[in-house]
Amino acid sequence: MKAIAVRRGEESPALIEKPTPEPADGEALVRTLRVGVDGTDYEVISGNHGGYPEGEDHIVLGHEAVGVVEDPNGTGLEAGDVVVPTVRRRPNGSNEYFARGEPDMAPEGYYHERGIDGEHGFMAEYFTSPAEHLVHCPPELADLGFLVEPASITEKAVEHARASRSAFEWSPESLFVLGNGSLGLLTLAMLDESFDRTYCLGRRDRPDPTLDILDELGVTYVDSRQTPVDEVAEAYEGMDFVFEATGYAKHAFQTIHALAPNGVGALLGVPNDWTFEMDGGALHREFVLHNKALVGSVNSNVRHFERAVESVAALPEWFTDDLVTGVYGLDDYEQAFVDDDTTIKTAVEFGTR
Ligand code: NAP
Ligand code: BGC
Ligand code: ZN
Repeated sequence: MKAIAVRRGEESPALIEKPTPEPADGEALVRTLRVGVDGTDYEVISGNHGGYPEGEDHIVLGHEAVGVVEDPNGTGLEAGDVVVPTVRRRPNGSNEYFARGEPDMAPEGYYHERGIDGEHGFMAEYFTSPAEHLVHCPPELADLGFLVEPASITEKAVEHARASRSAFEWSPESLFVLGNGSLGLLTLAMLDESFDRTYCLGRRDRPDPTLDILDELGVTYVDSRQTPVDEVAEAYEGMDFVFEATGYAKHAFQTIHALAPNGVGALLGVPNDWTFEMDGGALHREFVLHNKALVGSVNSNVRHFERAVESVAALPEWFTDDLVTGVYGLDDYEQAFVDDDTTIKTAVEFGTR
């Protein structure tokens, strides 16, 4: 079968041939439909994040997949079921996090991430997976099923942010998403109806397709070149909820100043090392005196995927049409990895239902 992989020593994806995998006991064989590309894939390709499976000279890319069950192999799934795989897998044998269905909370060393760290991903004509890591997707959502994984990332982050505010009556009105990439835009579309006022940080000039989406959603664009994150509260208002999806390390700390009293910031970005100066006293004081919270959030589990299926199904059609700027077959799969200002979300199509 054909697969898209990055080989050791290389920094671009290649189309390779691999044997079609055989499902082990408890696993189903899935025929891949579409696999999305996000910022993490670029980090894996450039070698800045993740790692190769042990003893292998390549890693098959892709962690945002949707497919159709080809061989249920006695798992209870049915041939033809449309499914979305979760990302984390047991590294060697089980551990408590997997045992209780919370692999997203496992510390390093207790998981592999398919297509990212230690295990091949889903960018292949077929993949196998334990049935417990496959989530049903309504067949009519199959074309957009590759958005379920990124939407599940938002579901988890929102759950953790809300949990941090659960000790008191918290009724957030303002949302500030940092980053107009695919995760930021998807998050705005998922959450905008729950907030009275929504804002999004970017660093682009108009005309720009991501800014057109913000306009259509009724989101106020904040240009970080004019209004840094730590000046947003004065320029606009203190934000009840900040969702960081830039991967720009200063934003983690500037978020404390952007928050309204009792607000919470969810940090999603995965930056490289960067040393800079900040007024730690002001941050510490602001944090304490205004009951603010920051939560880091990574990955997601089956519960978040189940909720994400609902969220993706509820997205307006104009939004997904504008967000997904290209779906490419294996003949021009390289196009899915072109990251310019006209590209928002892309996917590779391996087959159709
Ligand atoms: P992406 O497409 O690279 O989006 C990042 C966006 O942030 C880009 O649009 C970029 O603008 C904008 N940005 C970066 N620095 C900025 C600055 N200083 N001011 C204003 N805008 C800035 O990535 P993505 O796929 O949406 O993911 C977003 C982040 O979340 C990444 O760091 C990714 O690694 C992380 N992530 C984490 C998880 C998790 O589980 N925690 C899951 C998925 C993704 P330009 O395009 O104009 O440069
Ligand atoms: C993926 C997550 C993963 C994270 C860190 C994200 O792009 O969507 O599932 O845990 O990267 O590797
Ligand atoms: Zn991702």
